[in-house]
Amino acid sequence: MNDLTKPFKRLPVALIGTGSYVPERRLTNSDLEKMVDTSNEWIVERTGIEERRIAAPDEKTSDMATKAALRAIEAAGIQPEEIDLLIVSTITPDTFTPSTACYVQANIGAKNAAAFDISAACCGFLFALKTAVQYIGCGQAKTALIISSEKLSHIVNWEDRTTCVLFGDGAGAAVLRTGSGKENDSAVLASDIGSDGTLTDILKVPGGGTAIPTTEDNINEKLYTLAMRGNEVFRHAVQHMKDSALSLIERTGIKPEDIALVVPHQANLRIINAVTSRIGIPPERVFVNLQKYGNTSGAACAIALDEAVRAGRAKKGDIVLMVAFGAGLTWSSAAIRL
Ligand code: UT7
Repeated sequence: MNDLTKPFKRLPVALIGTGSYVPERRLTNSDLEKMVDTSNEWIVERTGIEERRIAAPDEKTSDMATKAALRAIEAAGIQPEEIDLLIVSTITPDTFTPSTACYVQANIGAKNAAAFDISAACCGFLFALKTAVQYIGCGQAKTALIISSEKLSHIVNWEDRTTCVLFGDGAGAAVLRTGSGKENDSAVLASDIGSDGTLTDILKVPGGGTAIPTTEDNINEKLYTLAMRGNEVFRHAVQHMKDSALSLIERTGIKPEDIALVVPHQANLRIINAVTSRIGIPPERVFVNLQKYGNTSGAACAIALDEAVRAGRAKKGDIVLMVAFGAGLTWSSAAIRL
């Protein structure tokens, strides 16, 4: 990629296609009742989740990402060679290095792309979106493929009822391209990302990195699995998602009634209801699919956006508000005219 050599005017960025993929295998709440001390009633009442998808043992994060990407490329009507930026967000990469993005690049033949991963947990798709918008906006890229793909079943402690009922596997993708700038054409109107690194401890995978390296003891203690203080995460999620969405609404001048659909991170129906009621959006303008997939981390927003578009819940010209929250802590939102 060339460096910037002269001052530039920020270019508009359009969203031109979405795609998603979820694995075949369903794990229902009643299946979980046989694995840990839980009940369908508890899970539905506290989270809204009814079932989640589980990837096949040999199905890699890049395999799911590739399927979602090919659907987004088809929807966008482009050729893989046109992609010059490829970003994958994941906390469950195929390998620590190379990046999962490089595997996907090879799989889809996006030979002209610069490919790299980012790590922002459940906010990963919107962090990728913001990153791509900056590259395209300053003329450093023309066509970006952003993907979030997660095989969370690989890092879930299946003996811990406080987390194993929550998560699932899947991938979502979108293609962004330099926009026309015309009033009714697609445009990413604004986006917001933020982090608070003083709260790393409330949601993390403690082991497997340089802090707690992989040893037999650490594996036996399941330190490579997700650990969460759910109550605390819940409280911060509501606060930060609300603040991020409201600041975006204020900055863009969009009114809540201009928003055709909110596509939030799919962690917990109670979080979604608390956030959307605080920003003044009625439930019929909120897209929820967590009952089918659980929390797929960064992929959740991306899968939900794709399903909303394909189901006709969000149509060309509609303004969609996306908002997410995750480990880090991280938070993010984006307003997009489709
Ligand atoms: O993706 C981004 C990050 N993640 C999130 O946004 C998740 C945020 N947090 C949450 O969604 C909720 O905090 C949870 C769904 C994780 C938990 O719901 P809660 O209403 O906060 O429940 P709690 O943790 O306060 O637990 C209430 C009770 C406890 O029992 P006692 O101490 O009251 O006797 C738990 O041990 O529920 C118990 N419990 C369960 N019972 C049956 C916890 N998990 C389960 C379970 N089945 N799976």
